[in-house]
Amino acid sequence: MERLLRFDGRVVLVTGAGGGLGRAYALAFAERGASVVVNDLGGDMQGMGKSTSAADNVVEEIRKKGGKAVANYDSVEAGENVVKTALDAFGRIDIVINNAGILRDRSFARTSDEDWDKVHKVHLRGSFQVTRAAWDHMKKQKFGRIIMTSSASGIYGNFGQANYSAAKLGLLGLSKTLAIEGRKFNIHCNAIAPTAGSRMTQSIMPQDLVDALKPDYVAPLVLWLCHESCEENGGLFEVGAGWIGKLRWERTLGAIVRQKNQPMTPEAVKANWKKICDFDNATKPQTIQESTASVIEVLSKMDSQEGISMNHTSHAVSSDTTSGFNRAVGYKLPPHTFSYTELEAIMYALGVGASIKDPENLKFVYEGSSDFSCLPTFAIIVAQKAMTGLSEAPGFNNINFAKVCNCHQLLKMCPPLPKSGQLTSQSVIVDILDKGSGLVILLDVYSYNGKELICFNQFSIFIVGSGGFGGKKTSNKAKVTVPPPKRPPDAVLADATSLNQAVLYRLSGDWNPLHIDPSFASLGGFDKPILHGLCSFGFSARHVLQQFGNNDVSRFKAIKARFAKPVYPGQTLLTEMWKEGNRIHFQTKVQETGDIVLSNAYVDLVPTSDDLSAKVSSKDATLQSTLVFEEIGRRIKNVGKELVKNVAAVFEWNITKHGETAAQWTIDLKNGSGEVYQGPARGSADTVFTLSDEDFMEVVLGKLNPQKAFFSGKLRVKGNIMLSQKLEMILKDYAKL
Ligand code: NAI
Repeated sequence: MERLLRFDGRVVLVTGAGGGLGRAYALAFAERGASVVVNDLGGDMQGMGKSTSAADNVVEEIRKKGGKAVANYDSVEAGENVVKTALDAFGRIDIVINNAGILRDRSFARTSDEDWDKVHKVHLRGSFQVTRAAWDHMKKQKFGRIIMTSSASGIYGNFGQANYSAAKLGLLGLSKTLAIEGRKFNIHCNAIAPTAGSRMTQSIMPQDLVDALKPDYVAPLVLWLCHESCEENGGLFEVGAGWIGKLRWERTLGAIVRQKNQPMTPEAVKANWKKICDFDNATKPQTIQESTASVIEVLSKMDSQEGISMNHTSHAVSSDTTSGFNRAVGYKLPPHTFSYTELEAIMYALGVGASIKDPENLKFVYEGSSDFSCLPTFAIIVAQKAMTGLSEAPGFNNINFAKVCNCHQLLKMCPPLPKSGQLTSQSVIVDILDKGSGLVILLDVYSYNGKELICFNQFSIFIVGSGGFGGKKTSNKAKVTVPPPKRPPDAVLADATSLNQAVLYRLSGDWNPLHIDPSFASLGGFDKPILHGLCSFGFSARHVLQQFGNNDVSRFKAIKARFAKPVYPGQTLLTEMWKEGNRIHFQTKVQETGDIVLSNAYVDLVPTSDDLSAKVSSKDATLQSTLVFEEIGRRIKNVGKELVKNVAAVFEWNITKHGETAAQWTIDLKNGSGEVYQGPARGSADTVFTLSDEDFMEVVLGKLNPQKAFFSGKLRVKGNIMLSQKLEMILKDYAKL
């Protein structure tokens, strides 16, 4: 049986609890262990007169049943006094139910100032006064639950209730803001719009209905929303007769009725009216940021005359388009060719903090250096340019591009980037994920120099607020991140970003105003413009290459990182690094705050031939696995085509000796007629295996079961683990010596 939701030790204040709904709440809370303050002024429905009997009767009722309750007879307009009763009687205040209310129904024309003010004072001002008096106590104890009582009259309007409906919708706005301000203190605020029989509804409902719509059918929702285990915050619920529904805003996709450098006219509004009001594929913005971001997006669309701004765009998507998203999977974006010279490469290097204060960086910023090189992460800029066609993908036509962030980034390099040249990128949407609070597009981008693959990028583009459409949560197409070892870092490099860092970085092509325009940044919820995530990423990639790769760009094989938090220009980045063979794990922190901004990250370095031979000779033995890989290579030659058809996967091997990578091999059964070669996969590997030379031989000789090796930690597998079954067959058939 499910455990009862109890309120032992909690102190609940219910305003207007002398009758109707408030009484039902007070009784229900008391029955479940709460100490209750029963507040009621005891006046009539129009707010006239006062008496103590209404509150006293309910207190009496609670006590008779063995509950704890005290009365308070103040008007909610004197919120401090009302809350003081809770503190005096029970020493704390945990839950506030703003329920007290009156009516002064008049047609609008006949509504007097007094009718207006009195209703506002009780409902809106009263809820404000009582809640404010309780707020600091809730903040201090890091717990609070608040209910605002709105009304269908406020949500939809109602004849003769101009004063009441305005106050009731005001309570919704108040509730939404308190939900935002209270969240970090575990103070939740929700609004309800009840329907129940009470003296308030007696005059407008037939008696049968008044009797049938019991307040007891509303109270359970209020109790649940106020329980410590309820995470709901900022919600609005209609409730009555035993039914509960949640409400949210819906917004049409709308229409842009203005053209760049043209005046905006009412005629253009008229011409677009149908589209402006068309709720097909409507969006459901949930935050003010989501709401305004799409408006701001119009400005940047107009300015750039482009569909997407690269690194922080967003799409608000209706759940109706779920099936449309599936159509986008597999979509190939139009190939994009990007030409660059040393100038772009240098600009990028400066953007990610390369500086001649470190003489070794000269080769990244001076085209005349004999060993001038592009920083490997410049390859991301190349790939990013290819993303402009993303909005054309099938099913994306109704996506409202506004606020997106990059949540993960993977880059794999094959040969280093040419110093200048022309690279053509081919991009494909490999999956769409539903992360609840947002939607993720996994985009693979392959960039070629002629026919030669230079690099592979995987972008995980997170679209804020567009999740919850019932899609899958994970994908085997997503390349995984890896946490760093649990020991102090082997090395730490620090670099202060300059105040102009984002200003400089954006010249490489990410023009999003979020990184330069203070008003735009504040609309995004930031104190000031933030640094591009990929800029911090570039800083750390440089640090790793400097610390462990001797600044040799040909050793940079891959980098993967998760973007965890924003960085403000001027802050200092600390890259903490751990060397595990040729994998350098890293995480990046902001020195000033200690916040981790890039997490679970790593760089894979290509072992130098010196490394390998030194390792092998120092251990005084050649690797036994070498013979096996060579043999597999020979044997699959004749049957390669068939294997490629059946297996369609690339397997990368890291063979270790004494805990360090001693060799890398790739078995490519995906491209052409298949191939086995030494070194990392030229494109991306589907599965990466890491195991020792000895264990590899045990597996091949059938002495060690691969599953057992995996579960005992001898064999590590990354990527598509299911494909290893196909590999097992291959090893069986083609690796026998
Ligand atoms: P009710 O009239 O039975 O209860 C309201 C209580 O508030 C009364 O006991 C009254 O004495 C008290 N009160 C009035 N002014 C006060 C003040 N200044 N300070 C302290 N107490 C005061 O009405 P009911 O139906 O129980 O309504 C409760 C709340 O639910 C109200 O806010 C009402 O607007 C709201 N509501 C009710 C609906 C319904 O179908 N009953 C529909 C929509 C909203």
